[in-house]
Amino acid sequence: MKSFARIKTLAIIVFYFFCLVQFSTEAQTITVTANKPVTDVKPTMWGVFFEDINFAADGGLYTELIKNRSFEFTISTMGWKTVKQDGEGRFYTTFYSPANPNNPHFLEVVVDAPTGSFGILNEGFRGMGIKADESYNFSVSAKASANSSLKIKLELISSTGTVIGSADVTGLTQNWKKLTASFRATQTDAKAQFRIMFSGKGTIDMDMISLLPMTTWKNRPGGLRSDLVQLIADLKPGFIRFPGGCIVEGRDLLNRYQWKTTIGPVEERRVIMNRWNLEIQARPAPDYFQSFGLGFFEYFQLAEDIGAEPLPVLNCGMSCQFNSGEVVPMTDLNQYIQDALDLIEFANGGISTQWGKLRSSLGHPQPFKLTYIAIGNEQWDLQYFERYKEFEKAIKTKYPKIKIISGAGPSSSGTMFDLAWKELKKLSPDLIDEHYYMPPEWFLKNAARYDNYDRNSIKVFAGEYAAHWQESADPSSRNTWYSAIAEAAFMTGLERNADIVQMASYAPLLAHVDAWQWRPDLIWFDNLTSFGSPNYYVQKLFSIYKGTQIIPATIGIKPVTGQDSLYVSATIDKNASKVYIKMVNVAGKQKYVNINVDGLNLNPDGVMVTLKSKSLSDYNTISEPQRIFPSGRQIALTGKKLSHPLDPYSLNIAVLSYKK
Ligand code: AHR
Repeated sequence: MKSFARIKTLAIIVFYFFCLVQFSTEAQTITVTANKPVTDVKPTMWGVFFEDINFAADGGLYTELIKNRSFEFTISTMGWKTVKQDGEGRFYTTFYSPANPNNPHFLEVVVDAPTGSFGILNEGFRGMGIKADESYNFSVSAKASANSSLKIKLELISSTGTVIGSADVTGLTQNWKKLTASFRATQTDAKAQFRIMFSGKGTIDMDMISLLPMTTWKNRPGGLRSDLVQLIADLKPGFIRFPGGCIVEGRDLLNRYQWKTTIGPVEERRVIMNRWNLEIQARPAPDYFQSFGLGFFEYFQLAEDIGAEPLPVLNCGMSCQFNSGEVVPMTDLNQYIQDALDLIEFANGGISTQWGKLRSSLGHPQPFKLTYIAIGNEQWDLQYFERYKEFEKAIKTKYPKIKIISGAGPSSSGTMFDLAWKELKKLSPDLIDEHYYMPPEWFLKNAARYDNYDRNSIKVFAGEYAAHWQESADPSSRNTWYSAIAEAAFMTGLERNADIVQMASYAPLLAHVDAWQWRPDLIWFDNLTSFGSPNYYVQKLFSIYKGTQIIPATIGIKPVTGQDSLYVSATIDKNASKVYIKMVNVAGKQKYVNINVDGLNLNPDGVMVTLKSKSLSDYNTISEPQRIFPSGRQIALTGKKLSHPLDPYSLNIAVLSYKK
């Protein structure tokens, strides 16, 4: 009897415990103390990181349609082939008496087509994206042999072989001369090709063969792809970090990114192999080079266009330590430091300074208002710190207001990471750049990563991060909803610690669907269209609903860092009189939250913006670009209270307004 009573008591306790657990998992009470701001959110909080990886520049943002236009690829005719239409001929590259010494190779075509024609065809970057009714500008540097009777015809060819645009080119002489022609396309095609046909007899030399759409971002000649810039601009990024990444480091120092060779006339910008050409063995890209049509002037201009702080990254005298690990001797470091000082003058100097004058001559007399500069990308160990120290000394002496970013290496923790923090604390960088490409579970577990960072130490720039379900080159590694929601959960932790983490950017930014080396990536595109990944919408929502100050959002007195699968952060926007409460439910079931917003006179109506998907393995594609896409619905508050269900696997942002 006694034991029956004991069992009964136990059963009752278990029942009540079960009820308690059930209750607690079904409705959490979140307290938002809106009148107690903890810290400011810097305008730079959410930014973007652009690297020329995945054909992000040539074949992507930069609108040049001709691949290998100046014949500087390692295989100098790569991307080109001959076409015979009842005519004969041959081609080869040479560099005797070039049009431009920085890019000395050019193409010589010997034509024997008294009837019919012979020509050359360019395949573009996995084809060329051509739009019906769009105008295209062709140009070439050319000269002909003395006895030439050549006539030149341009033809755009659709993927089914029909001519969808054509023009004649005239004005060929025996001296290097730029020839131009424009024409309109009659058909849209994502995989068109372009050919230059010759009739008659003679030899023609050609260099810088270019085909550009007339319509570009802000319609700048030789400009950027509007749809891609628009997607970036829509993120309202606080900064744009450029141009990399590992390409800044180079596989060796000769092939490091040197900003001075990327400005001025495009034909004079020295073409080099892109570091991602050889890097990922599972995704080789032998045709990946850097023409620098998108160079440092254009990066600054882009930053200005989209209202983002420019954040250039410069080589610190070390090449990629995963590759050659070549290091410049300390005695030769000065030229690297001088490059940094000159860049600051190029961006900010008056027009009477050497580099400011050059900027002005390129069409931008006003300074670009550079505030941040990063020295080194993912360097580690003592060789980095001793080099970084010299940069810091020179920059802080000449430009004390410039904020310098140093790096903690490629890992999120470990011996080299700890060493970086220890050594850099002895110096004075304004921010330390931390990178983490980790599984989604890591992001979920690390939402409180910065809660215990020293609040009086150097600030953090989370310069590259992305949740990787699988290794980047693994075909199953994608921008899944799982990766995106894990990042959202983690970002509530970045936001809550905005006093420490003052800048953050997802990486990489852009990827061509047919030519990527690394994924996941934020924005995907083919030759005609583009779309945002679920991760893109996470970034966008955090950025749009950034606010101006962090306010506490707690369960009890604790920040919400995964309790009951919930992650929460909140901000107030003093300019817009709004409160933004970001809530991430990473559980596969719906959860109710009761939110109390203390300390403000709230308006009863609000909006709940939600990003969600039923399956964690869902992702967006070219054919289904908005499978995972934000939606909004009206919500009503009762006084200062809001009760609301959070859908399974969802990011939710309550957008509330208050009376001043
Ligand atoms: O974003 C891709 C690469 O990841 C970057 O180039 C590098 O900084 C990191 O290792």
